[in-house]
Amino acid sequence: MSDDGKYIWINGELVELEKATIHFLSSTLHYGVGAFEGIRCYDTECGPAVFRLKEHIKRLIDSALIMGYREFPYTVAELCEATKKTIAANGFTSCYIRPLVYHDGTCKSLNLDNGKPSVGIATWYWGNYLGEDAMEKGIRANVSSFTRHHPNVMMTKAKISGNYVNSVLARTESARLGFGEAIMLDPQGYVAECTGENIFVVRNGNIYTPPTATILEGITRDSILTIARELGYTVTEQPVSRDQLYSADEVFMCGTAAECVAVTEIDFRTIGSGRMGNITRNIQKTYMDVVQGRHPLSKGWLDYVHS
Ligand SMILES: Cc1ncc(COP(=O)(O)O)c(C=O)c1O
Repeated sequence: MSDDGKYIWINGELVELEKATIHFLSSTLHYGVGAFEGIRCYDTECGPAVFRLKEHIKRLIDSALIMGYREFPYTVAELCEATKKTIAANGFTSCYIRPLVYHDGTCKSLNLDNGKPSVGIATWYWGNYLGEDAMEKGIRANVSSFTRHHPNVMMTKAKISGNYVNSVLARTESARLGFGEAIMLDPQGYVAECTGENIFVVRNGNIYTPPTATILEGITRDSILTIARELGYTVTEQPVSRDQLYSADEVFMCGTAAECVAVTEIDFRTIGSGRMGNITRNIQKTYMDVVQGRHPLSKGWLDYVHS
């Protein structure tokens, strides 16, 4: 049985996956003129619940506006409802959700004003993106030979489809070298983020994460900042250098798809004990409690599908 949901929501209609096609000449296909989100729905005691749905949909619309659309055809509330309707129609108790804004204009023009945004929402079942083992064992990572975008070249606060060729370059190189994920440096040479995750470093009991200047402002990153401070840790947003990674006691990465995963080795240097550290474990456990509805923070951050 396929893990893909049978129905895709497209511009207000639920359409069978096979029939949800776009025109070959769409500039989304040719130039990456699109914006997307990655969201998770978790199986909780009170039924399926979407983690920080409003924040994800707001970022989707912001991404489309940052790309240059002057108007957007849906409100945050409308796309939140559409997301829940798609999950319910596909009968998922837990799933990954992929909303996509695509351009209905043709590739014969590079001017965004030649068309309008359309929206589709797909769902599929997805275990941990970096592998089920990664949650317990952590992963090995490399520092990529590819640099993360300069924020004035590609808009790094937006999940614009074309931005992700940069991630594809780094991730493919990393996999071919035998690593689980790539860490990317910003144009100044400081640690930015991973191809689909933000990064945190633990040194002498304190937690550090790169500031938001060149990175995607991850919603998991934001959740972990809150969780870590609630757990009593000091977290500082400050530039992190490559050698500070090598000498860290713990490193972990986080994102909607990957959740919270320890990095046990970087560029063939063992990080800390070479196993998931206590601070990472504590934060990972609390994060999973929050997303699965078992924590006081869950209340404000979960949106129940059958409310
Ligand atoms: C480049 C990049 N950084 C960080 C993240 C983590 O963001 P979030 O926690 O909102 O999923 C993602 C995932 O969307 C990403 O693509």
